[in-house]
Amino acid sequence: MTDQPAGSRLVALCDVAEVTEDTPAQVDHDGEVYAVFAHDGAYYVTQDLCTHGPGNLSEGYVEGCEVECPFHQGKFNFITGAPTAPPCTDALRVWAVTVQDGKICIDPAQA
Ligand code: FES
Repeated sequence: MTDQPAGSRLVALCDVAEVTEDTPAQVDHDGEVYAVFAHDGAYYVTQDLCTHGPGNLSEGYVEGCEVECPFHQGKFNFITGAPTAPPCTDALRVWAVTVQDGKICIDPAQA
């Protein structure tokens, strides 16, 4: 989904109903692939591609606010993007999330 809420630079990535704590969503928007996570009633968006290699974090195992990469089992905190277990050492890019009309929205250009 790529709806653009009026009057903002926000882009809707998916419906909140598409993401659960156990099952992140993978969203491809405009050439960028995002992983969307749910935790404690809030939503978080990171880059989907692991900073260590070819793993897709949306396919990883989620425990609390950590996701385990399915490729070499490194881990990240998906709230901060910080690596929390080797072999991952570089942080993920993260985006601030706004929920509008039941959709998980980000500004893709956010620094
Ligand atoms: S590709 Fe993710 S831990 Fe290596």
